[in-house]
Amino acid sequence: MSLTQQQAKEKIIVALDVPTRAEALDLVDRLTGEVGAFKIGMQLYNAEGPDIVREIQARGGKVFVDLKFHDIPNTVAEATRVITRRRASIMTLHAAGGLKMLSAAAESAKEAAESMGVEKPILVAVTVLTSISQQEFNEEIGIQRPIAEQVITWAKMAQKAGLDGVVASPKEIRDIREACGEDFVIITPGIRPLWAAANDQSRIMTPRQAVEAGSTYLVIGRPITAQENQIEAARKIVAEIMEAEC
Ligand code: C5P
Repeated sequence: MSLTQQQAKEKIIVALDVPTRAEALDLVDRLTGEVGAFKIGMQLYNAEGPDIVREIQARGGKVFVDLKFHDIPNTVAEATRVITRRRASIMTLHAAGGLKMLSAAAESAKEAAESMGVEKPILVAVTVLTSISQQEFNEEIGIQRPIAEQVITWAKMAQKAGLDGVVASPKEIRDIREACGEDFVIITPGIRPLWAAANDQSRIMTPRQAVEAGSTYLVIGRPITAQENQIEAARKIVAEIMEAEC
């Protein structure tokens, strides 16, 4: 089965890794209608403040607030409530915060969404950052096991806590799917069409491969944002996703 054009567009989340509101909104103006959502990370959020979320939404864009919360359960639950009230479509937490922290976040997102009559954001856990090597993981973080095993442990813990999914490397998709089932959301960065530069990403997959492996959403930054014609780049990726057998 292949995806419709609309379904393919909805799989794409554009990473707004830019320092200013003006640059972010310029991208949003060009790409709304071409992709599914926009990801704001800590650079843009901290530079421009939470109003940037509302401004993107006002232009018709869905917003993924990627602030990777990691603190004591009460603090994270309250911060999650704030982001839910801002009507984020997706938000992130660190799995390393533990089951209690993740459960508190899931509970407060549900409560806040119900009390406001808005849709609950998709809550996803970040497991082991893909920038961490196996050696760093063992020696600096001090966890003596393969990263791939820890990713599965944390993905299952996130699911048990009531989260909707995880952010993961495309190479981890199959094992997470197997462990957490078909409905679990898997969001994958590290996506590179064959025609785009790899930049600093190493464990990459093409959009089509990632969708075929079972990715729910693809976070794509520079293969769209660093192109001269960003609309054309997004459309090419949509066409590639539509070729995926899934
Ligand atoms: O430009 P590029 O497509 O590499 O952007 C990928 C986006 O996904 C960036 O916002 C980056 O911070 C994010 N990300 C990542 N790898 C992770 C987690 C997040 O590349 N493991």
